[in-house]
Amino acid sequence: MSGFIDLHSHLLFAVDDGPGDMEISFSLLNSLANLGFSKVVLTPHQATLHYNPSWSDVNNRFNMMLESWEGTTELYLGAENYYDEQFMQRLDQGQVPTLANSRSILLEFNPRFPPASIRELIFNIQINAYVPVIAHVERYPWLDTATMRRLKDSGAYLQVNLTALVDKITSPERISRAHKIIRMGLADILATDTHDTPWIEAASEAISWLESRYTSDEIERLLIKKPAEILSSR
Ligand SMILES: [Fe+2]
Repeated sequence: MSGFIDLHSHLLFAVDDGPGDMEISFSLLNSLANLGFSKVVLTPHQATLHYNPSWSDVNNRFNMMLESWEGTTELYLGAENYYDEQFMQRLDQGQVPTLANSRSILLEFNPRFPPASIRELIFNIQINAYVPVIAHVERYPWLDTATMRRLKDSGAYLQVNLTALVDKITSPERISRAHKIIRMGLADILATDTHDTPWIEAASEAISWLESRYTSDEIERLLIKKPAEILSSR
């Protein structure tokens, strides 16, 4: 299968814990293309106390990549927003970086410390006219499946890391949570969260894993249709 859309990747070079130079980014993007990805959103971290590149650095590098990229994969810019003080300020100011100029925002949390009320937070994001996409939901032991269901029902999207489906770079606890979330039909999209070569290897194994267990309709929903829906939010 091809035409996959990856809404979560750290392939913008030299801004976070992704590749340090453009050539490595391009090599990883070519590997994703070989796995069937035709659209990739580059989502550098935006986290005050972690990786927090300035938006002008992000834009400059993205433009450099667009000028030099010769592959067929369509590249888009986004961000992985960490839930912190900076995020809340940007939310108030209507300046949260979105996925590929849509109204959708990729949001991650501290795996150990949940927000006071995730449902209230998600509601707050929605009344600010954004569409929340919760990154790698399998990472949060504090997020139970009943709450996931309510968040989905309220219009939020749940992203599971494709790379968390196989035993490569993810802990067994997270793998079993990822499997359960998909089995229960709670996952809206899968994305690679690619940082480096091991993520590509895991993504490749995960696609085979999916193909041996799920119908092509379900794979298409998770890797093409729902990601496209998220990108079309306006
Ligand atoms: Fe990420």
